Amino acid sequence: MFDLVITNATLPDGRSGIDIGCRDGVIRALETGLNAPSHKALDAAGYLVSPPFVDPHFHMDATLSLGRPRMNDSGTLLEGITLWGELKPLQTVDEIIARALRFCDLAVAQGIGAIRSHVDVCDDSLKGVEALIEVRKQVADYLDLQLVAFPQDGVLRDPSAMDNLLRALDMGVDVVGGIPHFERTMEQGAQSVRMLCEIAAERGLMVDMHCDESDDPHSRHIETLAHETLRLGMQGRVTGSHLTSMHSMDNYYVSKLIPLMVESGLHAVPNPLINIMLQGRHDTYPKRRGQTRVRELRDAGITVGFGSDCVMDPWYSLGRADMLDVAHMGLHVGQLSSRQDMAWCFDAVTVNSARIMGLQGYGLAVGCKADMVLLQAKDPIEAIRLRPTRLAVIRAGKIIARTPPNLASLALPGRPDRLDPASFAP
Ligand code: FE2
Repeated sequence: MFDLVITNATLPDGRSGIDIGCRDGVIRALETGLNAPSHKALDAAGYLVSPPFVDPHFHMDATLSLGRPRMNDSGTLLEGITLWGELKPLQTVDEIIARALRFCDLAVAQGIGAIRSHVDVCDDSLKGVEALIEVRKQVADYLDLQLVAFPQDGVLRDPSAMDNLLRALDMGVDVVGGIPHFERTMEQGAQSVRMLCEIAAERGLMVDMHCDESDDPHSRHIETLAHETLRLGMQGRVTGSHLTSMHSMDNYYVSKLIPLMVESGLHAVPNPLINIMLQGRHDTYPKRRGQTRVRELRDAGITVGFGSDCVMDPWYSLGRADMLDVAHMGLHVGQLSSRQDMAWCFDAVTVNSARIMGLQGYGLAVGCKADMVLLQAKDPIEAIRLRPTRLAVIRAGKIIARTPPNLASLALPGRPDRLDPASFAP
């Protein structure tokens, strides 16, 4: 007897007509013709069942704050940081919790099962840390929230940031963050990387730094991050987020850098929506795209996951917690247009990001957690093309969100009266 059986699912790898049996929060069967009793049944009707979306880079302490205390008129990264600095003293722990929980509702409805959120520690009160630790606890049954201690104003540039970062880690923040390109000099940037990696190594934590989020081809902190990862034996536990300067780097230098990144087992997290919006702002024409070298990093064997970074906050006015919007933009900016490349973009918001976050039991196989999303699409490429309705979201074998299918009613002479957008696959 299963708790839930999903029938007639199509899987991201192309298998179809699959039945998935879940019991005690775990996938216990995944096969054709399962035909077993269950307390609850869900007919997937041939649509795509995927493991949940994973957002490996977000800022939950800032989300849904758009317009407080004012809008970002220039739209630049630097005005966003200034604006965030104005908002921080105004907001309360309760406000941050309320906004974050509201965002989590949206994220779950969109099929997100795990989020790595940076939390700003450059605030002596550590309101954001206190709030998001509470949120992590409150959402734990339906969303994995991993927190990164993020010194937004620079761990060396801000005199109290290092102390605050250590306090945040003591309070239970999971991952060590950093922002080396925002320190005052290249040397201080490199020093910040060394210090932060040593802290993570001592505490046995992962590292995820905002690294080289700049158009400056000489912003090369990723090199130090890779080297420190190797020196401290932290292969597989360190992520470079953004890495936009790599877009502008000299090819010869990159031919040396990428092998170092591979050797150090670094992961890479571009944030396509934000990178295309914020980079290249000093350019006239031609104007740089600013997204890091996704194809080259992937082809070298580096795990690349796409993050969303922002939704309705000082840096980005748009967003709707849809990781397929993120994959759609990453695909376009990276010109990842072959069938294989497009399918890989789906991996970049699911399995790759799960690996980067170190999620246990993630995936669609017997023995994995029974966490899934049913999409009104027939395959991963169609999912990116349509960014379709999340018909059902399943967590631990229970349906935790449902959305009615998007079916247009037509009144056209001689034409069908219903139109399913997911009926156009080649
Ligand atoms: Fe970020």
